[in-house]
Order: sequence, then C-alpha cells, then structure tokens
Amino acid sequence: MDVTVVYESLFGNTRDIAEAIAAGIRQADPAARVTVLRVAEAGPGQVAEAGFLVVGGPTHIMRMSSGRTRQMGLQGNGKSGKDRRRAEPEPGAAGPGVREWLAALPLARPGAGAAAFDTHLRYPLAGGAARPIARQLRRHGYRVTAKATGFLVDDAEGPLHEGERERARAWGATLAAQLAAPTHR
Ligand SMILES: Cc1cc2nc3c(=O)[nH]c(=O)nc-3n(C[C@H](O)[C@H](O)[C@H](O)COP(=O)(O)O)c2cc1C
Repeated sequence: MDVTVVYESLFGNTRDIAEAIAAGIRQADPAARVTVLRVAEAGPGQVAEAGFLVVGGPTHIMRMSSGRTRQMGLQGNGKSGKDRRRAEPEPGAAGPGVREWLAALPLARPGAGAAAFDTHLRYPLAGGAARPIARQLRRHGYRVTAKATGFLVDDAEGPLHEGERERARAWGATLAAQLAAPTHR
C-alpha cells in the first residue's frame, strides 16, 4: 500500500505530527510505502498513486487556514516583548495551504481511502481544521475511514502538548491496521 501524508505547517508542529503519523504507519506495517509531503510538494501525480491519503493542517480561526490567517500567524499577530515570535516559519509557510490544495485536488481513484487531522490549541471552542478537511476529501471521492482527529499544541507556535507525538504515532498505527484489513488490499 502506498500512503501519502500531506501537511501544511507554519511553525513545524503539524509537520512533527505528520512525521509521527508516518512513523506509526511504518512501524505497524513495514511493507507500507509512506511518503510525507508538505502541500507545495504534493503534486497530483504523487497523490494519484497513493492508495491512502492522510491530510492535515493547523487550525486557524476554528477552521482551515487562509492566506489572511497565515499572514496573521507569520506576523506574530500582536505578540511583542518577551512573548514575541520565537519559532522559525516553515518553508512555504505563507501558502498555499491545505484549503487551496484541496480545492485543486483531482477526484480520487476508485477505492482510495483517506484520513484527516489537525493541530489546535487546548481550549473550549478551539474548533478544528480536521473535519472540514475530511469533508473536502469525501467531496473528492475519498472514503474517509478514520474519525477526523486533532492534536494539541500548547501555544500558537508550539510546542506540541506533551504526549501528542506519541498519540500521533499510535493513530498512524491504527490507520495501518485499517489498511491491512482485507477491503484495502
Ligand atoms: C491566525 C491564527 C489563528 C488561530 N486560530 C486558532 C483557533 O481558532 N483554534 C485553535 O485551536 N488554534 C488556533 N490557532 C493556533 C494554531 O492551531 C497553531 O498555531 C497550530 O496548531 C500550530 O501548528 P503549525 O506549527 O503546524 O502551524 C491559530 C493560529 C493562528 C496563527
């Protein structure tokens, strides 16, 4: 099974989660061929070859990012003094993001599966990008086989909340177990 993990990330937290998910898939299914790509690298060819697609991004204003929210994030949005931005932006952080990438995604090949994740803060009404991502994947013909899942950051620029890398790895292993089920072979 070819698995492609596509992520958007401003400060590296969603990238870390994407890599942990990939590690979990590889650990649970050493035969799986897993590729991790940021959105700008994930051309239609690579995605079309994947039997299973995992897509994730940061939560901005309760949903997927937009050009405007990415700019807000990159400008440090009101942070100053000792709270000023510490994290280095990721390559391609300004965009395109998963929202634009999903809009241009070709229709899935028959039987292709997918799963969606996000990163978000730990507060009530934090919202989440994962469910809108899952909805878009379904609209593009993907069979979304896992519940859209969020992973926690302690602050807008990170770090990841304690234990979230491990939880992402375990989530990846769960996806691999689903992929190994006869309907995915
Ligand atoms: C402009 C902006 C808006 C945000 N809005 C939300 C939000 O509504 N809910 C939330 O939980 N986190 C929100 N966050 C925090 C992001 O979820 C956090 O920056 C992200 O998970 C970090 O991942 P990254 O390093 O991969 O970009 C926001 C961040 C930015 C920059």
